[in-house]
Amino acid sequence: MDLGTFSRGEKRNNLRAIIGFMKVLVGNWKMAPDTLKGAVDLAKKTSTIAKTHKKNLQVIIAVPFPHISLVTKNVKNLGIAAQNISSTINIASTGSVNAAMLKSYGVSYSIVGHSESRALGDTNEMTNEQIKRLLEKKITPILCIGEKSRDAQGWYLSAIKEQIEIALEGVLKASVKKMIIAYEPVWAIGKNASREATPHECFEMIIFIRKIISDIYDEKIAAHIPVLYGGSVDEDNANTFTTDGGADGLLVGRVSLDAKRFSKLAANISK
Ligand code: PGA
Repeated sequence: MDLGTFSRGEKRNNLRAIIGFMKVLVGNWKMAPDTLKGAVDLAKKTSTIAKTHKKNLQVIIAVPFPHISLVTKNVKNLGIAAQNISSTINIASTGSVNAAMLKSYGVSYSIVGHSESRALGDTNEMTNEQIKRLLEKKITPILCIGEKSRDAQGWYLSAIKEQIEIALEGVLKASVKKMIIAYEPVWAIGKNASREATPHECFEMIIFIRKIISDIYDEKIAAHIPVLYGGSVDEDNANTFTTDGGADGLLVGRVSLDAKRFSKLAANISK
């Protein structure tokens, strides 16, 4: 990374420039652990992993809402993320959490557009609003995109393009630089995954995503937004995605709930 090409202001504001050669490792805890004690224990162990690799990895944990407050108080070296936020600031939204609340608990990141949230009803348009709400509060959006299935004709590529274009509609250049994107093919996520993606498939999609960003903004921005890979990442395949796969980091679900396996995974990509 050539930091020399950035002005001082850009260096400060551009996440990729700040993390430089560091990889981003996001642990998405999903709807677990069930207890506050379980969450704090896991957070402390993950904090130790983050400390060990702090020169090479920016570790972020995406924590269920009820655990956020206490987890934040008990960890260092970790970025804290929410797993979703409300797309509206209208208080008549029973059961929802807004970006201002997250900010007051010290949350610095939030996943948006995760396929599991999309399956529950989140649309591309809602994801766009969520991104704007987060940026207003200076919280970094981690935008998840990914196709449900693949077809020989390549139509799935238009689905990805549409997800990105709608999610970023009206998001200014200066703001998009602060975002993280995670490519997560839906068919490779979770215990019902049909198969793992190959590093080559990951590589092709990361290039495709950068091309779309470049068409909307410019090449410089496209080159500097961290693009992560997620979907059945484990301690054995992790570094194939960050080397041959070209990913700037990983979004890890199930394995992030097992501190021993997450520790091995972190060690394998922290080189
Ligand atoms: P997984 O989940 O690693 O369990 O497949 C990935 C994700 O949370 O998107």
